[in-house]
Amino acid sequence: MTIDIAGLGQIVGDSNVLTGKDAEALFTDARKVHFAEALAVVRPASTDEVAAVVRWCVTNDVAISSQGGNTGLSGGAIPWGSGPAVIMSLQRMNQIEKLDPDGWTMTVQAGVLIQTMQEAAVAEHRLFAPDWGARGSATIGGAIATDAGGNNVVRYGNMRDQIMGVEVVMADGEIWNGLRSLRKDSSGYDLKQLFVGSEGTLGIITRAVVKLHQTTPHEQSALAALSSLDDLMDVFALAKDSAGDALTAFELLPEVGIQKVCDTYDLVHPMETRADFYVLIKLGSNRPVTDLLTDFLALAADAGQITDAVVAATPEQEIKLWTLRDELPPTGLYTHHATGIKMDTAVPIARMGEFHNSVREIAAELAPYALTYGFGHVGDGNLHMNVLPMGEADIAKFKSVKPELMRRIDELTFSMGGTLSAEHGVGRDLRDRVVGQKSSVEWKLMRTIKAALDPDNRLNPGVLIPDP
Ligand code: FAD
Ligand code: LAC
Ligand code: ZN
Repeated sequence: MTIDIAGLGQIVGDSNVLTGKDAEALFTDARKVHFAEALAVVRPASTDEVAAVVRWCVTNDVAISSQGGNTGLSGGAIPWGSGPAVIMSLQRMNQIEKLDPDGWTMTVQAGVLIQTMQEAAVAEHRLFAPDWGARGSATIGGAIATDAGGNNVVRYGNMRDQIMGVEVVMADGEIWNGLRSLRKDSSGYDLKQLFVGSEGTLGIITRAVVKLHQTTPHEQSALAALSSLDDLMDVFALAKDSAGDALTAFELLPEVGIQKVCDTYDLVHPMETRADFYVLIKLGSNRPVTDLLTDFLALAADAGQITDAVVAATPEQEIKLWTLRDELPPTGLYTHHATGIKMDTAVPIARMGEFHNSVREIAAELAPYALTYGFGHVGDGNLHMNVLPMGEADIAKFKSVKPELMRRIDELTFSMGGTLSAEHGVGRDLRDRVVGQKSSVEWKLMRTIKAALDPDNRLNPGVLIPDP
């Protein structure tokens, strides 16, 4: 049956119904491994328009994949293989509606960019804390829907911890205005949290109220060369003990990754001493943090945990250190990145090193020719390991061992009580692999919620929830 999409143009205007070449960029996911099978990209400008598009989809039995900045790394923002669908892009809903410094809140439409929120908050002497490499393209709607994390989680928590209220268009087109800004509310189920991490499967987030924090006018970072990966958690404990609340980020960077970023972007390695691994640490406070940072580094050096360190002395040096971190994902470094395995694992924090080494052992056994490296938010127990074949012949060989490699690594993760997705979401990429992570009771509860809120399975079918 052909579906006439003219009705969508009547709701959002013809120029906001994109097809063909105009839609190409939004039909492909951020990792460029998936291509949408969709009737069109629809770009509503208001909650009422979103609701009207949903009602049109109900009438015409069309599925909906919500999309923000399309920077998601789990293939959840574009539809394929599940029948007629549209992409609901929230990008035109890009207004900050209210910034309330005295109430420590900001009310935004779903398509506002993370960086725009950060900058708006700073202009009012407040901080919107979440931060990660895709800050200039990721939207708050997508960040809520994936329960995004990033570099500052160690201090401020993930997206779940920033959300005070949401407005959501439900699967039948009804609008739930839950835009509260209460710090405390024990009047029943916390429905807003249902939508955090729901990846577009329960409703379409159209607006949100987020928390603001104190600014930290004094910020300083240091890159420290680890004596051994075995010292990682001791260095973390020391950083927490000595810096207290000022510890804002604690990230692991491997030498092989720093080298590749330097080669790719023509940057100079910031340290003469070389090590297999470095930690990038940021302190932030309303008081100077230099002494705190150097005292911590001296203690770590005395304890033999680090062999060298560079402290950013200027804002430019600060940016340079963080560029090394932001550019580590293989998506931007290796054109053939999709042939490999990328991980978004979290394990109990004390077992980070063990997880890292075990993945390396499994990879060395099954694909000894592959490049295996890990980086990321180790202060949160979240490591992005990557196993990547490098030459043409290895890519072909790797294909045949990839399923077994993934199976072994997933088994390892589950055996450690870990998760396959700490911050990127399950999307379509992890949907079948995540089954073993939860009990049948837990999956039954999730399916019950999905069926109650979206009985026709119209919202992002094929995403997040595995088939029974
Ligand atoms: P999209 O990619 O458009 O969508 C992601 C998911 O959310 C999809 O399932 C989609 O259907 C759903 N969705 C989007 N908008 C809505 C809405 N309004 N209502 C309901 N559902 C919706 N993530 C991290 O957590 N930490 C990192 O450190 C990090 N670093 C990154 C670095 C790079 C270079 C890149 C490219 C990505 C990185 N990401 C990181 C991943 C990505 O930026 C986040 O997942 C982000 O939250 C996605 O936001 P988005 O607006 O692009 O969402
Ligand atoms: C990062 C992405 C990959 O931490 O989550 O850079
Ligand atoms: Zn990350």
